[in-house]
Amino acid sequence: ASRRILVVGSLNADTSLVLARTLLLGETLAAESVHKGLGGKGANQAAAAAKSGGRVAMIGAVGADEPGRALLAHLRALGVDIEGVLVSPDHLTGEAAILSFPGGENSIVVHAGANHALTPDVLRTMAAAFDAADLLVVQCEIEADVVEEAIAMAVARGVPVLLDPAPAAAVRRSWLHDVAFLTPNLTELAALTGLSIDGRDAVADAARSLLRDGVKCVLAKRGAEGVLVVTPDAVQSISAPSVAAIDTTGAGDMFAGAFAAAWTEKRDLLAAVAFANAAAALSTQERGAARSFPDRAAVLRLSTLNQ
Ligand code: RIB
Ligand code: NA
Repeated sequence: ASRRILVVGSLNADTSLVLARTLLLGETLAAESVHKGLGGKGANQAAAAAKSGGRVAMIGAVGADEPGRALLAHLRALGVDIEGVLVSPDHLTGEAAILSFPGGENSIVVHAGANHALTPDVLRTMAAAFDAADLLVVQCEIEADVVEEAIAMAVARGVPVLLDPAPAAAVRRSWLHDVAFLTPNLTELAALTGLSIDGRDAVADAARSLLRDGVKCVLAKRGAEGVLVVTPDAVQSISAPSVAAIDTTGAGDMFAGAFAAAWTEKRDLLAAVAFANAAAALSTQERGAARSFPDRAAVLRLSTLNQ
């Protein structure tokens, strides 16, 4: 089975500060601990897909600096084709400051830096990567014009598109027509639709409104409640393994990458969602983004335990 996944997206150096409680405006609070790691929603999704057994190529940009080199080495070690990752001498590698709160929630501030060196013109020189792809995976931490061009290049070749609408404010409505899989969490689903997301029926209604914009399949991520899979024919709920989250940083990225790998392998929608749910749950058991991602064998062990 061919399963080439092309990820177009951001690469960041992450600094996570673990806090004992949420922060008030104007307050100074001592952190419990600090962790440096590799992240960026694009790099995370590429790493997640590779760890899940996918053949992955990444397009993005880093600076000519130590974090940029570390990101490239990390992806290369996972077997990701990084030929499409530019090294910009004029920018610093993107950076994310992550405040991690008890219960696993977080707040993230991102400086895009070199991520903005990827332009639609540069992307157009990378047509060969799109020719070879079986699925495009894209998120919204890069310039909207680049996301738009990536979607157009995929659609021109009949390559299905997975759009992770994170952050949701960057999504252009016109993209939805060309999206095969949309993977919003509840916050993103509410932002995209302006509708209530209170309870399963409301989530299903909100997701259906996105089908009217042309999305083929909405995977609405409801955290501990699992994922609601909404297509024109059916609404199905796929439960998530119950775990007490330590740190949810990157869990959405693990979900997208694991789903991409599982779906391109077997084209079984519900099985791919179940695999991705287990992978995302496991990623919340460790601090940080990519460093918390389980490999395929660990995910399969958990899925078997749950059957
Ligand atoms: O989705 C998690 C990621 O968001 C982090 O790795 C951070 O870099 C931000 O981009
Ligand atoms: Na994590």
